[in-house]
Amino acid sequence: MEYVTLGRTGLRVSVAGLGCGGNSRIGMGTGKTPAESLALLRQALELGVNFFDTAADYGTETLIGEAIKSVPRDRVVIATKASIHRSGEPIPVARVVESLDRSLRQLDTDYIDVFQLHVVPPLVYDYALSEIAPVLLREKEKGKFRHLGITETSPNDHEQHMLQRAVHDGVWETVMLGFNMMHQNARTKVFPHTMANGIGTILMFVVRNIFSQHGRLEAKMKELAEAGQVPRWLAETDNPLGFLLHASGASSLTDAAYRFVRHEPGVHVVLFGTSNAGHLQANIESLLRPPLPEADRQKLTEWFGHLLGVGLELPNHSGAGAGTPRRSPNR
Ligand SMILES: NC(=O)c1ccc[n+]([C@@H]2O[C@H](COP(=O)([O-])OP(=O)(O)OC[C@H]3O[C@@H](n4cnc5c(N)ncnc54)[C@H](OP(=O)(O)O)[C@@H]3O)[C@@H](O)[C@H]2O)c1
Repeated sequence: MEYVTLGRTGLRVSVAGLGCGGNSRIGMGTGKTPAESLALLRQALELGVNFFDTAADYGTETLIGEAIKSVPRDRVVIATKASIHRSGEPIPVARVVESLDRSLRQLDTDYIDVFQLHVVPPLVYDYALSEIAPVLLREKEKGKFRHLGITETSPNDHEQHMLQRAVHDGVWETVMLGFNMMHQNARTKVFPHTMANGIGTILMFVVRNIFSQHGRLEAKMKELAEAGQVPRWLAETDNPLGFLLHASGASSLTDAAYRFVRHEPGVHVVLFGTSNAGHLQANIESLLRPPLPEADRQKLTEWFGHLLGVGLELPNHSGAGAGTPRRSPNR
């Protein structure tokens, strides 16, 4: 495993972080037993993963709490989250503190390493900054958590308006954001500021549905070609990103997806979500491989660098309309 420093938190974190939400919820989202989910968590620990991302809403905190009992507490970095709104309506601050306390109990730990506000849309950002953050910082002083972070609602904020404000407000030590081969907005809009301000970055939506589920990419390419957003030939082939797969390039689409983001300047942790032991091993291997060949990386940047919001779907959302804004919170 390789480890990096998560911005000014100073935490040493594995570049591969296990996302315990998303479609898979470490197996809880795909019909696996709790024992199987626990085995996945232990496999991740054995392979050197020390960063685990969860949330009050995921239902995976208790399993993580159980899994980390096998290692000294300071060997793992636990990030969890509380919701601060429901469909844009603010949740009272007292409920958010209750959520923090519940997470501590469910994780069965004395402190949380990174406590994050979950899926914050631009319209709720003022509330997060002026009402929620001051109260949480008092909870931080009591020792309940070490670092405060914020996560975007990628499907509802393609241009990352919320984060473009948050990166300038000194209170957030980490941000979680969507970035992938066909949604590269953060390169110019977010990462220059996180790097300048020492903010730790945690990536999500790197693979999600579009790069893991058969037919999704092809359908999306047709939609984008019809809209004149990508070269037409990309819609006329069965394997639009097949040019990435060759002897000195990527071994699969998911391999390409994780390697593309991992080496982007400004990226610290790349989250991967899975319910499958083979995928867990493969994804870690991908994240530890060298960057994609420069010629392939350049094509991805040239052809897709202008796209916004591709691949930002809710868990197992059906249909190809990945760029369509949605109102409900995402995981
Ligand atoms: N705003 C927020 O706070 C927010 C929103 C979304 C996500 N997140 C966090 O980000 C994490 C990562 O997002 P994500 O779960 O969507 O992860 P992801 O890595 O982008 O995609 C995971 C999906 O790809 C599949 N997959 C993974 N590895 C694969 C492989 N090697 N080959 C084929 N398919 C593969 C998984 O299915 P299998 O189970 O079959 O592997 C799953 O359906 C979440 O778990 C969560 O912690 C946070």
